[in-house]
Amino acid sequence: VDVSVALLGVGFMGSAHARAYTSIPRLYGSGIIPKIAWVIDADADLARRAARDWDAQRWGTDWEEAIADPSVSVTDVCLPPSLHRDVVTAAAEAGHAIYCEKPLTTSGKDALSLTELTESRNLQTMIGFNLRWAPAIRYLRDLVSSNRLGTIHQFSGTFMADWAADPAAWDWRLSRAAAGPGALADVGSHILDLARFLLGDIESARGESATVIRERHAGEAARLTDNDDLFVATLHFRSGALGTVSGSRIATGRKVEAALELTGTAGSARWNLNRLNELQLYLDEGDPLENGFRTVLLGPDHPLQKPFSPAHGVGISFLDTKIIEAHAFLTCLDSGTMPSPSFRDAWEATSLIEQIEASAGVPRR
Ligand SMILES: NC(=O)c1ccc[n+]([C@@H]2O[C@H](COP(=O)([O-])OP(=O)(O)OC[C@H]3O[C@@H](n4cnc5c(N)ncnc54)[C@H](O)[C@@H]3O)[C@@H](O)[C@H]2O)c1
Repeated sequence: VDVSVALLGVGFMGSAHARAYTSIPRLYGSGIIPKIAWVIDADADLARRAARDWDAQRWGTDWEEAIADPSVSVTDVCLPPSLHRDVVTAAAEAGHAIYCEKPLTTSGKDALSLTELTESRNLQTMIGFNLRWAPAIRYLRDLVSSNRLGTIHQFSGTFMADWAADPAAWDWRLSRAAAGPGALADVGSHILDLARFLLGDIESARGESATVIRERHAGEAARLTDNDDLFVATLHFRSGALGTVSGSRIATGRKVEAALELTGTAGSARWNLNRLNELQLYLDEGDPLENGFRTVLLGPDHPLQKPFSPAHGVGISFLDTKIIEAHAFLTCLDSGTMPSPSFRDAWEATSLIEQIEASAGVPRR
């Protein structure tokens, strides 16, 4: 399959996607060789350097020019979320497969309309919920679906970060116009998606959110933050399981830390992004005087890990989950199948965020 990518935005995530495209041929040897046809960024210097470093054919500052290029077959969206709606709509009209960073858009209404637009045109879509691709998370899902943990009755998940704990910090994530919800969309979307991925559909979500640092002093001028710094929420799964989730961008000392725990009738498991290659596993079996949580080190015999490490005990990194994700996307393009997680999964996460905001009394935009 001819994969010719327009890579839009080459900040943190755009670079991670470029690294993924260039690593895939060597790591997988599957004959899938994506070409980066365009690198686009509003920062011309950044776009030019990225095109040089990642061997892209062309670079520019105007995403419309790249999407209009008839040689392009894939649009890859790594721009701030407020741009996603227009960019994805243009890519859908051009008939492209679309790989979009989370959150899909800044509102549930737009997320649903983009999902319906791309589905009505049979376009292949993927959303960048890359924690799903951590080998430990895949193995955990296998444990759940094979019933090794019994019936799961409780989920707890947190996603804490502290980059905005400094009142002088400023970023597009701190503005509702650019980002939509704050911690809820930035980190909360990941943990809500993992809850769905591991335990299935969520019937309802309720919660509270707060903006703790309203006025920020970036340079001379004071700027107001109008989305949440932190949230807490409860989940009711269709299976009957209950869940709690929380997230923050001002959790002092928690750099970027996602963590979750599943409790079942026959066992439990815990995972933490900061120890991404380990799973804490408890199986209710054996001598009760000696059983307890054990540390399972992920290795090449676990799902997805083999291309990265031929040996046990040699792990992967956070950014490697982006390589696995991009490879899964390209494999679906090659086989003509629908990627997962797709835009519909993105909309499901956005709709949970909207339920949490509604119950917290945040005005609907
Ligand atoms: N999956 C993950 O773990 C993860 C991690 C970080 C970010 N993200 C998502 O990736 C997306 C991008 O985030 P980021 O951290 O890379 O942000 P970033 O600020 O590092 O990069 C965004 C880039 O977009 C460019 N840009 C802004 N407006 C533009 C325009 N109109 N035209 C062209 N370029 C423009 C900026 O110059 C910047 O280089 C967001 O949706 C974010 O939520 C996902």
